[in-house]
Amino acid sequence: MLKDKRILLCITGGIAAYKMADVASMLVKEGADVHVCMTENATRFIPAETFSVLTKNKVYTDVFDENPDDYVNVPHISLGTSADLIMVAPASADIIGKIANGIADDMVSTVVLPARCPILVSPSMNTYMYENRIVQDNIEKLKKYGFKIIEPASGHLACGYDGKGKLPSPEELVESIIYELAEEKDLAGKKILVNAGPTQENIDPVRFITNHSSGKMGFAVARAAANRGAEVTLVSGPVNLKTPLGVNRINITSAEDMFKEMTAKAADSDIIIMSAAVADYTPENTADEKIKKSEKDMAISLKRTHDILKTIGSEKKDDQIIVGFSMETENVLENSRKKLESKNADMICANSLRTPGAGYQVDTNIITIITREDETELPLMSKYDAANKILDKVLTLKQDKNVIE
Ligand code: CTP
Repeated sequence: MLKDKRILLCITGGIAAYKMADVASMLVKEGADVHVCMTENATRFIPAETFSVLTKNKVYTDVFDENPDDYVNVPHISLGTSADLIMVAPASADIIGKIANGIADDMVSTVVLPARCPILVSPSMNTYMYENRIVQDNIEKLKKYGFKIIEPASGHLACGYDGKGKLPSPEELVESIIYELAEEKDLAGKKILVNAGPTQENIDPVRFITNHSSGKMGFAVARAAANRGAEVTLVSGPVNLKTPLGVNRINITSAEDMFKEMTAKAADSDIIIMSAAVADYTPENTADEKIKKSEKDMAISLKRTHDILKTIGSEKKDDQIIVGFSMETENVLENSRKKLESKNADMICANSLRTPGAGYQVDTNIITIITREDETELPLMSKYDAANKILDKVLTLKQDKNVIE
């Protein structure tokens, strides 16, 4: 996701510096060209050689370090000016104070000054140090100057205290770089409403009716849309997935809850993408107490839920784009095309439960994008890539609508 992106990791002296080895390695795996500079104190927690081996690039620890392969560019200037993104992590109170006040007396504080790219700063220190008003003022100053601050996590700190000040996990740090850098921000200014996951329809306090949806497709759509700069609201049924960075998540349980949240937010959305597997039926009555078994068989009477896509489709505004999903086990395209009309959607993403690599639980999908104009059969790909293809098509439809208006 970060192919050909040049990322500079600036590491300062904190125990969490060891986590940056994972960050460097993960960035390399994402295709990035990773460069590292460290303060002298950082090298006391993790040696520079760890990073030169992982990144295959020279690591800089001193402003007078030279690059023997390049005497044209001066590293303390060129490292910052050539980067697509700089991440200062862990950022000690000392480096935050130096950057906020324009002090450049070591390699890290020096390289950030001439940089023109986005700079992410991830403070990591003792809770009381972090809460200190001077440190907080310096952080505010960095925000004012356009630095992006990554909130420290809370938990047990190496100094023995419990509280805020932990460096977020390597996965979270890499995700914040992906969020910033991986995609073009072609959905900036757009409000996108996505739903995902199954619903649960209670029979009694112990049992419920649900389906196999993992929510992965909808979460991939929300993540891709947020990475492309959209303002994303994700209404999710009960799933075991992390909220993508920058996404406003609303958790619901039943089809009725999903209906209420989606219809309340639909009118204010530019694009609505409905990948949730909403129950079509719910028990007519939900017992207040656990239903006790008897010797006889039993039947549960079910009533219809609202068709949320159909409701939102019937109230669609001219400039809105509405995307539905269609999960079928037979006559996939024929049944999906019908849903385009019956639900007044602009696009239906058809996927077959029977095709290996597609459907519930897995990280890949095989989708056919159906619109009124054409059909695009996508090959097997990750749900994230499929989400981007869907969003590409949505943008084309949106541009066509704007041209017609
Ligand atoms: N959908 C919805 N509300 C429902 C059921 C489905 O909004 N009560 C939406 C889904 O989120 C999806 C689309 O409708 O975007 C198609 O869902 P699918 O389950 O494939 O089809 P159904 O409309 O439920 O029809 P059937 O189950 O008969 O195939």
